[in-house]
Amino acid sequence: MDLLKDKTALVTGSSRGIGAAIAKLFARQCAKVVVHGRDGAALSAVRGEIEHAGGRAMHLVADMTKFSDIEAMRCQIEQELGPIDILVANAGGSFTKPGPLEHTSEDEWRASLDGNLTATFLTIKTFLPGMKERRAGNIITISSAAARRSHAGSPIPYAAAKGGIEILTQDLAVQVGPYGIRANCIAPETILTERNKQRIPEAQQEALINQHPMRRLGTPEDVADAALYLASDNARWITGIVLDVAGGAVMV
Ligand SMILES: NC(=O)c1ccc[n+]([C@@H]2O[C@H](COP(=O)([O-])OP(=O)(O)OC[C@H]3O[C@@H](n4cnc5c(N)ncnc54)[C@H](OP(=O)(O)O)[C@@H]3O)[C@@H](O)[C@H]2O)c1
Repeated sequence: MDLLKDKTALVTGSSRGIGAAIAKLFARQCAKVVVHGRDGAALSAVRGEIEHAGGRAMHLVADMTKFSDIEAMRCQIEQELGPIDILVANAGGSFTKPGPLEHTSEDEWRASLDGNLTATFLTIKTFLPGMKERRAGNIITISSAAARRSHAGSPIPYAAAKGGIEILTQDLAVQVGPYGIRANCIAPETILTERNKQRIPEAQQEALINQHPMRRLGTPEDVADAALYLASDNARWITGIVLDVAGGAVMV
C-alpha cells in the first residue's frame, strides 16, 4: 500500500475517466497527488474522494494546450506540495469523428494534434528541467490502440497524434536516461469510462468485446494498475516502452 511513499504525482486530465482512476490509485499508494482538469466540480469530487480515503491531494485547473497555463500550474504545485516526481501526461482524447481523410477539416486535425501531441509536449517541457536538475523523475504518457495498428474506422488525426506521443516518449527516454529519469507510454484499447459507456451503443460494445481475446473491454482501473507499475520502483529498469493495455486485442 505504499509503493509511491514520499512521491508527489501530477496526473493531467484526472477530473474523470482513466486519469481519475490513476490519481485515486496513486493516492492509495501514499503519493501526494495533483488532480487536474478543466471542470472544477468534477475535480473537487475526485479530490474529495481521495481525501475521504485518507489521501493527500490538491486540484488545479489548466488548459494543457497553453504553455503559460501549465507553467502557472507548476509554480502553484511547487509552492504547495514541492516538485513533481511522477508526471502522468494523460489529458487528451479524440476530437475527430472517424472518416475518410479528405473529409477531415483542418480545424479537426489541429484540435487532435493540439489536444494530444502538443499538450503532451508542453506538459513534459514544463516539468522536465526540474527533474533533470534533481536527476530523478518518472514520466508516463498515454497513447492509444488507435496508434498501434491501422483500422478502417480509425480517427486518423487522433491516431497520428498518439503515434507522435509514442516516438516523443521513446526519444525522450534516450535523452533523459542518463539523468536517472524514466519515460514510458501506455497504449490502452477501448476503456469503459463513464463517457465511453454513454458514447458507445451496447451493440457496438458487444462487437468490440469479441475483438478482445480476454472477452471484455478495459476498465480505467486496468490502465491505472499499469501506470502504477511503471511509476513504481518495480519498473526501475524499464524505460522507453509502449505498454499495450488491450486485453490481447493488440499484439505488436
Ligand atoms: N477511454 C478510452 O477508451 C481510451 C483509449 C485509449 C486512449 N485513451 C486516452 O486516455 C486518456 C484519458 O482518456 P479518458 O477516456 O479517460 O478521457 P475522458 O474521460 O474524456 O477524460 C479526459 C480528461 O482529460 C482532460 N482534458 C482533455 N483535454 C484537456 C485540455 N486541453 N486541458 C486540460 N484538461 C484536458 C479532461 O478534463 P475536463 O473533463 O475536466 O475538461 C478530463 O479530465 C486520453 O489521452 C485518451 O486519448 C483513452
